[in-house]
Amino acid sequence: MSNINNYISENKERFLNELLDLLKIPSVSADSAYDADTAKTAEEVKKRLVEAGADNVEICATAGHPIVYADKIIDTNLPTVLVYGHYDVQPADPIDLWDSPPFEPVIKPTENHPEGAIFARGSCDDKGQMYMHVKAFESMMKTDSLPCNVKFMIEGEEEVGSENLGTFVKENKERLEADVILISDTGIIANDTPSITVGLRGLSYVEVEVTGPNRDLHSGLYGGAVANPINILCEMIAKMRDDKNHIAIPGFYDDVEILTDEERAEMAKAPFSVEEYKKALDLSDIDGEEGYTTNERNSIRPTIDVNGIWGGYTGEGAKTVIASKAYAKISMRLVPHQNSEKITELFTTYFNSIAPASVKVKVTPHHGGTPYVTPTNFIGYKAAKQAMQDSFGKTPIPIRSGGSIPIVALFEEELGLKSVLFGFGLDSDAIHSPNEHYGVFNYFKGIETIPLFYKYFAEYHNA
Ligand code: BES
Ligand code: MN
Ligand code: MN
Repeated sequence: MSNINNYISENKERFLNELLDLLKIPSVSADSAYDADTAKTAEEVKKRLVEAGADNVEICATAGHPIVYADKIIDTNLPTVLVYGHYDVQPADPIDLWDSPPFEPVIKPTENHPEGAIFARGSCDDKGQMYMHVKAFESMMKTDSLPCNVKFMIEGEEEVGSENLGTFVKENKERLEADVILISDTGIIANDTPSITVGLRGLSYVEVEVTGPNRDLHSGLYGGAVANPINILCEMIAKMRDDKNHIAIPGFYDDVEILTDEERAEMAKAPFSVEEYKKALDLSDIDGEEGYTTNERNSIRPTIDVNGIWGGYTGEGAKTVIASKAYAKISMRLVPHQNSEKITELFTTYFNSIAPASVKVKVTPHHGGTPYVTPTNFIGYKAAKQAMQDSFGKTPIPIRSGGSIPIVALFEEELGLKSVLFGFGLDSDAIHSPNEHYGVFNYFKGIETIPLFYKYFAEYHNA
């Protein structure tokens, strides 16, 4: 590995600058105003893969944003690693809350990143982590030390539900044949506490609309005598959970995986401080489902959360009005073995059942996703563990994450492949938030650790 590590340290500055350039293109997949930039980012990723030494580099058009495919098949007797990542990013707003412009990357130290962190939308999620794979691949190519075949599949719609990637996977099963999927789009506990994500939550996402009177009304002339849809929506949302913060939707927990006491005790071994957690978020107290710890609440238990709520007058000053309509966007994070469609149905039935006769309600489902659990006894996990053991000098801890990467379950269904969630971000990196950043340490740690994964995967595969 010393050749590779020399190559990485000799090219450090260029590796960093190339990422900064990639971060300057605002590839916001959700907003069509950025479609040209999103397409340009795909072109850029293509160019970088060609330069790194990949073959068959192709921009594959979809009904939405394109997928960049590339490969390097050195020997069909060797195992193949399929790298998945995404070049699209979340919208940057609210822009006012950024300390520096989201698409003009700057490097500054933070408490968790004393050696500097790259501040930009997408720095951690997922351009920075995706690009580690391109640079690790380049480093293996340029030092003649690639031990496996590689395929890349870098998409531009992860942040909007990966709908077209599902179609691409179904239509390209042969092209995507591999032995394992490797993804860096998750995190570690801390820079001195490596971990490997072994669980992702699923998702049901709905939008609700509550309609009262057929027009906005004077709140004095009509107030008290007609249904106010905003008041009623709030009451309905309050009925989604009971006083123990259990979700009140009938049937919601029917399929929830119950962990054994041993499994929960194992989870509780991961280092965690409630005091530091509160301090980092400026909270005077924590909140959540009774009977579960913070780490259980955000990983092995399902949730319901309002992501946005609106209606009526929200401009400057006061306007006395009863709105005709109120709206909310609601997400439910799911755990094994909950089914996203079933949960959406249960939600819809319950939401209709608690609506008073004075309003009309409408529920519109958005995207969903299936939960995922990686086994720790397959060679992909073992290779990831040994790679981190070597590069961090510590055994990584398996952890279940609260986030979702819905396409991972589809990879298993359609390609029969397990995914190794080999992410290097920190929870404090503020992904999806203003001032998203990614540690320079983490970027290079990833570039150094990925070749070790390849090495051990090839070794264990051929054993
Ligand atoms: N990379 C994240 C998911 C993630 C982050 C998982 C950290 C585990 C740890 C991904 O880009 C993401 O944001 N996923 C969305 C789901 C999607 C359907 C919009 C999410 O989890 O909200
Ligand atoms: Mn991501
Ligand atoms: Mn994301």
